[in-house]
Amino acid sequence: MLLDDDIFDIELKLLLEGILLRYQHDFRDYSVASLRRRMRQAMERFGCASLSQLQDRILHEPAMFAQMLQFFTVQVSEMFRDPAYFRALREKVVPILHTYPSIKIWVAGCSSGEEVWSLAILLEEEGLLERSMIYATDINVEALTAAEAGIYPIERIAQFSENYQLAGGKRSLSDYYTAAYKGAIFDRRLRRQFVFADHSLATDSVFSEVHMVSCRNVMIYFNKDLQDRSLGLFHEALVNRGFLGLGMKESLHFSRHAASFNELSPAERIFQRA
Ligand SMILES: C[S@@+](CC[C@H](N)C(=O)[O-])C[C@H]1O[C@@H](n2cnc3c(N)ncnc32)[C@H](O)[C@@H]1O
Repeated sequence: MLLDDDIFDIELKLLLEGILLRYQHDFRDYSVASLRRRMRQAMERFGCASLSQLQDRILHEPAMFAQMLQFFTVQVSEMFRDPAYFRALREKVVPILHTYPSIKIWVAGCSSGEEVWSLAILLEEEGLLERSMIYATDINVEALTAAEAGIYPIERIAQFSENYQLAGGKRSLSDYYTAAYKGAIFDRRLRRQFVFADHSLATDSVFSEVHMVSCRNVMIYFNKDLQDRSLGLFHEALVNRGFLGLGMKESLHFSRHAASFNELSPAERIFQRA
């Protein structure tokens, strides 16, 4: 006899297939444990007694799917998140980037842009921003719009400033934003070097050759197959000896691409294409 949990898993599979067919978003290789948890939250939020009921609404109401993206993806981010990562970039990666006449960086899964603006500030302070191009991609279009705007609630700035200093910031974070109403608006000049695009690590391919990929706290929500697919894309996109930065809870262990990268700063999860 099937248990309720088994039926839930059948409904989940059907829902993911339905979303792929209807909206071309592929969540089939996301971590099941996290999907289960988040779909239960969505059922509660939309007052649906079963996942099939939720599926009915998602398939028939496109606006509902837009709202569901917030349940399929996790949008938590911070400027200079894990300051040691940004410090290691300054100390170990920047000196090598200096040897390139032009630099392309891909921030995959950029969410609302905190990581992108942080990298731009770091590159500016290291005299590299002018010759850099940052491609910032995500599947969440709402997050991309926020990323492009570069406006963050003022109450988040204390945390961002603390991270910036710990990351080896050379000035004061306030040099890069203007406080207006309840928001900090980051300097538009930094944005000249950004290109934002809707791109999925699950379905899309490589769009440019790059010198560095920063993909942090994204693959943690994927199963092993999708992690491998993503790492394959990064390997293909990176120039020889190009850099790959991952989140603190992510690694290349057990990946079929593990041998294609060398560790540059293992504690900070920074690797170099072999
Ligand atoms: C937790 S945020 C990470 C933000 C930032 N990288 C950081 O470390 O602070 C995860 C982001 O991955 C994005 N994402 C999820 N699935 C994706 C996919 N298949 N392709 C690209 N981005 C994806 C989500 O929309 C979300 O913005």
